[in-house]
Amino acid sequence: MSGETGALSALLTEDRRFPPPEDFAANAVVSDPGIYERARSDREAYWEEWARELDWFEPWHTVLEWKPPFAKWFLGGKINVSHNCLDRHLNGPRRDKIALLWEGEPGDTRSYTYAELHLEVAKFANALKALGVGKGDRVTIYLPMIPEAAVAMLACARIGAIHSVVFGGFSPESLADRNNDARSKVLVTADGSWRRGGILALKANADVALERSPTVEHVVVVRRGGELSEKVDASMKPGRDHWYHDLMQDVSDECAPEHMDAEDILYILYTSGTTGKPKGVVHTTGGYLTQVYATTKAVFDLKDDDVYWCTADVGWVTGHSYIVYGPLANGAQVLMYEGAPDAPDRGRFWEICEKYGVTVFYTAPTAIRAFMRWGDSWPGRYDLSKLRLLGTVGEPINPEAWMWYHRTIGGERCPIVDTWWQTETGAIMITPLPGVVETKPGTATRPFPGVEATILDDAGEETDAGYLAITSPWPSMLRTVWGDDDRFRATYWSRWNGTYFPGDGAKRDQDGYFWILGRVDDVLNVAGHRIGTMEVESALVDHRAVAESAVVGKTHDIKGQAIAAFVTLKEGYEATDALMHEIRDHVGEKIGAIAKPEVVIFTADLPKTRSGKIMRRLLRDIAEGRAVGDTTTLADPAVVASLKAKYEHEES
Ligand code: WT7
Repeated sequence: MSGETGALSALLTEDRRFPPPEDFAANAVVSDPGIYERARSDREAYWEEWARELDWFEPWHTVLEWKPPFAKWFLGGKINVSHNCLDRHLNGPRRDKIALLWEGEPGDTRSYTYAELHLEVAKFANALKALGVGKGDRVTIYLPMIPEAAVAMLACARIGAIHSVVFGGFSPESLADRNNDARSKVLVTADGSWRRGGILALKANADVALERSPTVEHVVVVRRGGELSEKVDASMKPGRDHWYHDLMQDVSDECAPEHMDAEDILYILYTSGTTGKPKGVVHTTGGYLTQVYATTKAVFDLKDDDVYWCTADVGWVTGHSYIVYGPLANGAQVLMYEGAPDAPDRGRFWEICEKYGVTVFYTAPTAIRAFMRWGDSWPGRYDLSKLRLLGTVGEPINPEAWMWYHRTIGGERCPIVDTWWQTETGAIMITPLPGVVETKPGTATRPFPGVEATILDDAGEETDAGYLAITSPWPSMLRTVWGDDDRFRATYWSRWNGTYFPGDGAKRDQDGYFWILGRVDDVLNVAGHRIGTMEVESALVDHRAVAESAVVGKTHDIKGQAIAAFVTLKEGYEATDALMHEIRDHVGEKIGAIAKPEVVIFTADLPKTRSGKIMRRLLRDIAEGRAVGDTTTLADPAVVASLKAKYEHEES
C-alpha cells in the first residue's frame, strides 16, 4: 500500500474543520442532510427522482437489473444525451444563455448560446451521417481543447454513434491502438493547437497513426484558426480527409435526436490498468447521464447565473462528465480554455477567473501544488471575489495544498469539494455536499447519497484501513471493458463477491470520513494522469538497447508521483547519457510525453526472487530513498545494495 506511516497518522489527526458557511448552506441546491437517509432507505427510488429531472422519450419499466457484475439501469427507457444537453433548454430563458465560452491560449475567444450550440451539433451530426456514420459506429475524437471537441461528442450522442476521445497528448502509436481496438470508422482531429506558445501538430500525428488504422475510412479536420492555421499545413488526403468547415457548408441544421435505449453505449474511454494494454471503459446512456447530471447539480451547487470552469482536458473522463455532459445537462454556462496555466505567465488561470467572473472552479491537486510553488503574488494580482465554490479531483490532496487553496484562492469563504471517482465510475462517488457536509483538509468525506462504499480487507471483512470498496451498483458505473468481459470481471469483481474493487487504498476516521490513500496496484498517478507501469515497461523494452526494465512510482512534490525506470541493457550497449535521453524519448514516442520516465537508472541486474519475479517493492524503497525492506527472498541480495548506491549517486 502506498503512503507512509508518518504521513498517514498526520492525516488521521487532522482536526481543522470547515462547516458549510451559513449563507452558502441557506442557498444551496442541497441543504437538507436528510438526503443521505432518504437515499439509503430506498436507493432505487432516490435515483429515479434524479432520472425524472431529465427528458425521456419513453419511461423505464425497471430501475435496476443487477446480475453481478453486469448492471442495467432504467430498463426500457428511451433517451438522448444531446437532446438533454441542448434541445431541452431551448424553450425557455436558457435558449440565449451562453452555453460554451471558450478562450484560446493566445487570447482569442468564441462563444455559443444554447441555441447556437444546438445548431452546430445538429449540423455536425448530419455531416457525420453523410460520411456513413450510424448508430453504434465508433468515432475517434483526437482534438485539442476547442469548442468542436464538445460539438463532436454531442453530435455522436445525437445520432447514437459511440465516441472514443483520445487525449491530444497521446502519441500516434497510442492513437492507432485505440482506433484499432474500437474499430473506429471516422477520426475527428484538428490541424493543431497551442500549448505554451508551441504548436501541437495533431493532424501530423494522426497521419502517422492512420498508416496503421485500417478501419478508419474518413478523417474530419477542424481548422484551429488564427495564426496557428496559417503556420500549420495539414496535408489533406483526397477522398479520405475532409475539412470540418467544408462539411458544415451545405448540410441541414435539422437533425432529430436518435431515441436511444438507456443501456445503449454512449462512449468508450481508454484508461491504463495493470497490463500493457489500455482498456476501453464502456459507459451507457441513461444511468450515466442521470448520475453526472445529479452530481454536477448537487456537488457543484449549480445555479443559472454561475460561470463554471473545470480545467481538465476533454481527453479525460473529467472533461467528459464535468465539462460537457454534466454541466450542459444542467443548462450551465461552461468555460473552456485551450492552453497551459503558465502561458503567457503564471497568472493566466486567475486572469481568466477575473475576466469571466468564474464562480465555480474545479481543478487537480497537482495544479494546486504548482500554483502554491509559484507563489501568492500571481493570484494576488486578480479579483477572485466572484468565486464561491472550489473543487479538486485526480489524486489525494495534501492538507497544506488544501489549506492554500482555501485561503489564497477561496478567500476563506468558498467550500472545497474534494471529489473521489474514476474513469470507471463515470461520475463523482465520494465527495462532500458543500451545503451540508463539514469538510476537513485531505478527505473526500462521505459517499454521494445513493452510493454505497466501505473499506474491506483481503478477506472481504470491514475494516478502517484497507481497500476502498463499492458495495452496490450505481447508475454511471462502467458496464464492461470494450470487447473483453473477462477482463472486466477479473479487474474489478474478482477480489470480493459482487463488490466493486476500484484499486485504491483507504482509511476511515472517527467521523466515518474516507481518506483515499492512492493506488494499491501497479498503476501510477502522475500529475493526475493514470499510467500503467506495464505500459511504460513495454515501451522501454521496445527500444533496441533495452533488455529488461522495471518501472515504479516515486513521490514528487508537484506531480504527486514521477516515473522511475530501472533498465538493464543488451550486450554491446553502453550506459551513456545520450542513450538515456534516447530511451526516455522512445517512451514519449510510444505512449505520449506524460509517460516519459523522470529518472532512468541503468543497472546490470534487477532484484529478483529465486523464481525470477522482479521485486518492485524494493525498487520503490530505493526510488523513495528509504530503508530497503526485507531482501531475504532475493536470489542475489547484493543486487539491491549496489543499486541503491548507484541510485543515490545519480540523484545527487
Ligand atoms: C484514480 C482514478 C476521476 C477523474 C480523474 C482521474 C485517484 C481521483 C481522487 C481524490 C484521492 C483520487 C484514485 C482513482 N483519485 N480522485 N479526490 N482523492 N484520489 O481519473 O484516471 O480514472 O484515475 O485517481 O486513485 O482510482 P482516473
